[in-house]
Amino acid sequence: MKRRGSVYLLGAPGVGKGTQADLLAKQYGMSPFSTGDMLRQARKENTDLGKKAAVYMEKGQLVPDELIIGLVEQKLSKTENQGGFIFDGFPRTLLQAQALDDLLLKKKEPKLKVAFIELSIETLRERLLGRLFCPNCQKTYHVKNYPPRREGFCDSCNKPLIVREDDRPETVERRLVAYFDQTAPLIDYYKKTGNLKVVNGLGTVEQVLNALIIALELEG
Ligand code: AP5
Repeated sequence: MKRRGSVYLLGAPGVGKGTQADLLAKQYGMSPFSTGDMLRQARKENTDLGKKAAVYMEKGQLVPDELIIGLVEQKLSKTENQGGFIFDGFPRTLLQAQALDDLLLKKKEPKLKVAFIELSIETLRERLLGRLFCPNCQKTYHVKNYPPRREGFCDSCNKPLIVREDDRPETVERRLVAYFDQTAPLIDYYKKTGNLKVVNGLGTVEQVLNALIIALELEG
């Protein structure tokens, strides 16, 4: 397998990071790395981390940096990275971004390529409030934009779909506030590294995928 550098999908909740990370992973043999999925798994298994994270996730707040950075260090040290990672939902604060830079440097990884996916707040709300989620395999759908083949059931594993608890309207609003306060400053952080590409998140899933492939120079 071709050895690639890692990429980071930066953007607000609901912009399509998870959807695109899955497709890029399939197409290029890269490894998705979603702290949101890891935390949901920890909650499902009722681990110590899962119990601590639940308190913040239920309120639509970010989980504290020390818990996230500890989790990431542990996962990265265990995971092989021949195809490159697709970071989705991490980093989300300046401290996390600096920690990731240090970790990649330690692992002698090539420079991180960053795609900032842009979308209006109205469309973000529409996507989050219409999302369906498979708690078994973590696949994501949308009632209108991206429905499953069989209503209410996952295409991949056939299990019933649910609405994510943090997709309730009041929690969605808090997540958007957390994004603008704590994560949006990373746009400037990565602009300064000269490594940030901006991609329009408005378009079909395929159009956004193609724009990401070009922006991140994944072909060839
Ligand atoms: P996390 O799971 O990371 O959620 P998020 O960043 O809020 O992102 P989402 O999963 O909501 O959206 P997405 O961009 O992946 O969009 P999706 O592809 O699903 O985090 C959850 C929580 O965990 C956080 O609130 C926090 O508490 C905690 N957490 C996680 N990481 C953390 C960290 N590093 N630090 C601190 N706390 C952390 O798409 C959305 C919808 O749109 C879907 O229905 C999809 O089908 C549809 N859609 C996608 N693309 C398109 C398109 N092109 N056109 C039309 N519809 C589309």
